[in-house]
Formats: sequence, C-alpha cells, structure tokens
Amino acid sequence: MARMELESYRRTVYEIAQAIAPGWERQRARIEETVTPVRDWMVTELAPRSGDTVLELAAGAGDTGFEAAAIVGETGRLISTDVSPAMVEVAGRRGTALGLANVDYRVMDAEHIELEDDSVDGVLCRFGYMLVADPAAALSETRRVLRPGRRLALSVWGAPEGNPWITILARMLVKRGHMPPPKPSDPDPFSMASEERTRALLEGAGFATVRTEAVSVRFAYRDVDDFMSFANDTAGPLAMVIRGLSEGERQTITRQLGEAFAGFVADGGYRFPGVSLNAVAS
Ligand SMILES: C[S@@+](CC[C@H](N)C(=O)[O-])C[C@H]1O[C@@H](n2cnc3c(N)ncnc32)[C@H](O)[C@@H]1O
Repeated sequence: MARMELESYRRTVYEIAQAIAPGWERQRARIEETVTPVRDWMVTELAPRSGDTVLELAAGAGDTGFEAAAIVGETGRLISTDVSPAMVEVAGRRGTALGLANVDYRVMDAEHIELEDDSVDGVLCRFGYMLVADPAAALSETRRVLRPGRRLALSVWGAPEGNPWITILARMLVKRGHMPPPKPSDPDPFSMASEERTRALLEGAGFATVRTEAVSVRFAYRDVDDFMSFANDTAGPLAMVIRGLSEGERQTITRQLGEAFAGFVADGGYRFPGVSLNAVAS
C-alpha cells in the first residue's frame, strides 16, 4: 500500500475499533468461549513465569493477557495494550472484575511500541498482527522490546476455506454490492493465513526459532438472527456495513444466509468450523 493509503487504512481501523468496542464488551464471554483453544495454546506456548513482565498487543477485551497476568503473579506485570482507547477501557473493566492488580492498561500502536529495548519477557497478540497496516514493522518492534531468548505467541485466522463462520457473510456483502472485494495486498482477517508468509514475516523481524500450528474452534449460533446480532456487534468492517443496511436489505440478507448456512445445521442451531494459525517465536 502507498503511504497515503496506509494512513487512511490506519484511521479506518482505529475508527472501526472505537465503534465496535461496546459490541466486543457485550459479546466478550461468548468470544472467549469460542476461542478458548486459541487462548490456551498461546498462553501454554508463551510459558510465562512468576515475576515476568508480559506485553499484550491489540488486546481488545484483554482476556488472553489476563491468563498470563494470573501466572506472573504479584511480582510480575501485564502491560495490556490496544490502539483503541475504547478497547483499553473495556479491558480495564474486565481486569478489574477479575480482581487483577498487576496490570497496566495503555493505549499503544503495535507499530510503535512505547517501551525500552529488551524490556519484556513475553508478548501475546491474538488476532491483531493480521489487521495492522505494516505487520513487518509491528513484528520488528515486538522483537526489539522482547528480551533475548524469550517468546512471542500469536494467533491469526487461517485460510478462508476453513473459516465459513465469517466468509459466507463477507462474500454475500461483496456480491450484493455493499463492499468492494478485498485486495490481496490489504490487511484483513486472512492477510497472514499463509504459514509461509507468517513465518517469513517472523524471520524477517529477527525471530530465529518459529513453530506454527493450526488450532480449530467452533462457532455456535441459535439461528440466523443470533448470527446477525453477533456479527453486528463484533465483525469489524462487516459490522459497520450491517449497521448501515436498510431493513429490507437486512431481511433479504438474513433470508439468503439461511439458505447458505444449510450445510451447517447441527445441535438445534448452526455450528461453523473455524481455524487459526498460531505461532510461537523466539
Ligand atoms: C479482532 S480484534 C482482537 C482483539 C483481541 N486480541 C482478541 O483476540 O479478542 C483486533 C484488535 O486489534 C486492535 N488493533 C488494530 N490495529 C492495531 C494496531 N496498529 N495496534 C494495536 N492494536 C490494534 C483493534 O483495536 C482490536 O482491538
């Protein structure tokens, strides 16, 4: 992307995050229930120790980092960060509800980490780098602040074919003219789905040891209205589109989704597979 386009992209991501933060707070428990295997993998692979300082980037509501905060204990510290002040507030409320006293909440752009070199013992970033305008810059910043030999654990969404929970809606919105087709060069949920690309980005940022693994999750919805309400609350740019639909168009899309979801009927509702690409690097 050209510099102007990058700037405009960054502004858009920021505005969407600000607008979507209340929806992420409403759906927080449901999101966590769905992606528990991803969160568990990341914290296990990070292997934080008592007394460690752990940084979470693009933390959203913060739950991945909060698991690490419980492990590093009173002598350790979690720095929970996000570019969106509204998201940082959501994380702050969640951390307070959990009774965590060892967390600093900071507004921070993953592309410009405002910390000293070699100052943290571990970094977590779940579903963040893939949305950052310049992931190479964010990963090189991550490497800079991470102490030698310590780990980064990240997750991004895997291939679109493995994630119908979101691609069916996205394709329908494109087909019906509500949004342009994604450009291959732009950041989006699948921009780091390729294992080769993610590995190359990590190695290019100076990580010498990289291990990746696909992690499966399952999204569950009672019916299409339940799916639409979850997407309306959480689905980033798609949520912005849904919120702007006329009532008639929303009904048409709801009906067409019902047809498109026919292959996913299970347990009295819909069950969709999802797959993330996780990586641990040092
Ligand atoms: C899909 S959400 C994931 C939130 C959380 N990590 C989780 O897994 O639940 C993406 C998050 O990335 C944040 N984000 C996007 N670009 C960012 C950047 N350049 N620096 C820091 N955070 C960013 C957004 O504000 C949003 O909270």
